[in-house]
Amino acid sequence: MPPTDLLLSLLDPSVRADPYPVYAALQRQAPVAEGPMGIVVVSGHAPVAALLRDRRLSSDYRNSSAFRAWLSEQDADLDAWDADDAQPFLLRDPPDHTRLRRLAASALAASALAPGALGRLEPRIAALTDGLLDVAAARAGDDGTVVDLVAEVAAPLPLAVIGELLGVPEGDRVRLQAWSHDLARAIDPPFLLGEAERAAAWEAVEAFHGYLADLVAARRRSPGQDVVSALIAARDEGAALSDEELRGIVVLLLAAGQETTVNLIANACLALLRHPDELARLGADPTRAASVTEETLRYDAPVQLRDRVALTDLRVGGVDVAAGTTLLLLLAAANRDPARFPAPERFDPDRDTSGHLGFGAGIHACLGAPLARLEARVVLERLATRLRNPHLATDDLAYRDHIALRSLRELPVVVDGIRPA
Ligand code: HEM
Repeated sequence: MPPTDLLLSLLDPSVRADPYPVYAALQRQAPVAEGPMGIVVVSGHAPVAALLRDRRLSSDYRNSSAFRAWLSEQDADLDAWDADDAQPFLLRDPPDHTRLRRLAASALAASALAPGALGRLEPRIAALTDGLLDVAAARAGDDGTVVDLVAEVAAPLPLAVIGELLGVPEGDRVRLQAWSHDLARAIDPPFLLGEAERAAAWEAVEAFHGYLADLVAARRRSPGQDVVSALIAARDEGAALSDEELRGIVVLLLAAGQETTVNLIANACLALLRHPDELARLGADPTRAASVTEETLRYDAPVQLRDRVALTDLRVGGVDVAAGTTLLLLLAAANRDPARFPAPERFDPDRDTSGHLGFGAGIHACLGAPLARLEARVVLERLATRLRNPHLATDDLAYRDHIALRSLRELPVVVDGIRPA
């Protein structure tokens, strides 16, 4: 199958359940290939790792010729798009990216996320996880109870953690989850989105900003220990952060901290359930949770791909790339490149995972990686300790309609009871 057809096949729900054979086929044909609609698809580990660090590429899709052509067709105001301050720094280039990322990093460091403070967060994450498992335990019998690990653990836990860090009142978090679901579609490459999804993502951004305007006003009146208060302090100390930029950072932290961590936890649980010997080893030695987490980031990456735009004419892996071209960097394919990871299709928490691209690399490398690793490790430890004889209720698992995020809809697991905390 030519690269274009292979790539488009990822839109097919049955292929999405297991995209790895498609990635492997792409990689075998050419680690860098011309794909549909003039985009360039990169699947080899070496070129993806190099391009993530290449300053001749932009993270701002407003530089894409295809996107600008589409905007002109819609009679959109190009200047208004270019001046949009709410654009999150995930999608910006230096110098704006540098300034905004630095502020976000210092606000996180001023909160419970300071490197030295992460240890203090650990018991809180364990308590939140135990609380969720207690709710499931209350209705679980001694045998054959089905627990949906996505709805009952993997989704609510990161929402509670990031909600607490940002100081979002508990009652508002369900609304945030709905918005961040819609928003997460916007992480997919714009040309793969339908009109309805694009519209839903925009509505979510607007609703989110409206909500945050009130939250920011409330924190300004009475600051707390949370990240929003830290960002306001930075802004008010003349850090040249506009209100829109401030809200853009909070939206990014919420969406990036929620949608991805759910998938890391769920993907790790699925990998363990499909490898019962590894599940048993984790049960016997919960300290293996850290290496299970790291291998999951390689083996079944929660963020499967990112897009970039060439700022100048380039030649990549023998392919000429004109300025304005979109490049699709397949992180999940790179993580399964046999040239970098021997027997890449084997789930092996004991392997050397260094160099995996699960958190990206270069100037946009994930800012929340320490938190995500901590959450996944603690949840896996608690699950391994408390679930009795867990096994998959079905092998017929469905994924959400994302291309970029590997997002299980549900993960029903049969347990013979849940041990007390
Ligand atoms: C398993 C969980 C997570 C995964 C797999 C993940 C993955 C990634 C990846 C691949 C990128 C790079 C994007 C690019 O190069 O274009 C990224 C960026 C980012 N992540 Fe995460 N992330 C996770 C959790 C989190 C959490 C918990 C937070 C916040 C508390 C967070 C905040 C961010 C931010 C702010 C960026 C943008 C960095 C920049 O543009 O400079 N992420 N993440």
